[in-house]
Amino acid sequence: MDLTPEEQRILAGENGEAARIAMAVLVDLGTVFGAERLIPVAQVHIDTTLYMVDAGVEFAERMAAAGGRFCVPASLNPAAVDLLHPERMRVPADLLENSRRLERAYLSMGAAPTWTCAPYQQGLIPRFGQQIAWAESNAIVFANSVIGARTNRYGDLMDICAAIVGKAPCFGLHLGPQRQADLVIDAAALPHSLRRDPAAYPLLGYVTGELAGDRIPAIVGIPADVPVRALKAFGAAAASSGAVGLFHMIGVTPEAGSLEMCTGGQKMEEIHVVTAEDLAEAAARLSDPDLRRPDLIVVGCPHYSYAEMTTLAGLLDGRRVHPDVACWAFTSRAVYGWMAESGLLRTLTDTGVTVFTDACPLQYPKSAWSFTAALSDSAKFANYCFSQTGLPSAIASLPECVETAVTGRHAPERSIWKRF
Ligand code: F3S
Repeated sequence: MDLTPEEQRILAGENGEAARIAMAVLVDLGTVFGAERLIPVAQVHIDTTLYMVDAGVEFAERMAAAGGRFCVPASLNPAAVDLLHPERMRVPADLLENSRRLERAYLSMGAAPTWTCAPYQQGLIPRFGQQIAWAESNAIVFANSVIGARTNRYGDLMDICAAIVGKAPCFGLHLGPQRQADLVIDAAALPHSLRRDPAAYPLLGYVTGELAGDRIPAIVGIPADVPVRALKAFGAAAASSGAVGLFHMIGVTPEAGSLEMCTGGQKMEEIHVVTAEDLAEAAARLSDPDLRRPDLIVVGCPHYSYAEMTTLAGLLDGRRVHPDVACWAFTSRAVYGWMAESGLLRTLTDTGVTVFTDACPLQYPKSAWSFTAALSDSAKFANYCFSQTGLPSAIASLPECVETAVTGRHAPERSIWKRF
């Protein structure tokens, strides 16, 4: 790689040991991917925030102790626990302590305590065309696709290095020609009412991810006024069933005013028509067929926005959550603060919903809870729930999740997928 004189000095250790390590990692990564240079990034989103193994904690602490300081704004993905209300989550002492160690290390290096997988909802929001280095798959695909910022799918530890140096290797999705679509997903065959229903988008995203893998899909047939929460759910699902880092929705996302615009005028050879049956089959693949009485309802994967919390409260409409069911809603501490101030938090908690901040529902301490099955409106959660927690799960629309929370019964035979 061609390094500037300043980059060479950092690599030689003139800016300290942490910057030297970070620069060495970035140069190695760039070399592997054929990058010719580093580019400045405007901000970084750090994914190495969930305590899983000691290595993550030790790397963050080592960089902090070696003088590491973030030279660009850096936001933080969820912790393994609700750092504001650990008692509500019944968090084991060692998990909390390791999460606190990560918290201390990141804050000492200058991170913003966002603790959210949806950093695009508040605070550090990039703009169109801006070069950034984000980790966390749903955030990456949202930033690239919905905002039009530019980031590769960066991973754990590399994100810390990018924040310390303020640069990333210039390859892949940082480059305009690498952002062109590889295949077309044709959603025009879906019934119009389904294309207008936010519940369709986690499943459409899930199918898209399966078809696209790590390639860039262009999706046609989506209404121009599709809500942001649908785009968010679509991207999160596509990034979990596949490795989608960027999608184009024609007439919706900023680099896709037309199909030609995001294909560079190339004729697309691979076109997949998606039908309502495809979405129904995806829902079946994501659902335990025997699940009738889930005792855990999870929403907020990715973290709910204030608007999504408002929708949840509206659907509950003052009804109480069934006594045999826990209804958990996850969000950032920023949104939580707004909810507390506005009274929305009280409205929800009065119905029996528990609102968690900072945390990821896939990391809840299983030993402290005796759940038998979970229901969620998130395809990402349903995709990972059994493999990561051992808990059988199913996906349903948000209105269906709310009805199940209130009645204690899940009725998949009355699911919206049976209507098409
Ligand atoms: Fe966020 Fe955890 Fe879901 S990090 S996207 S809540 S799996």
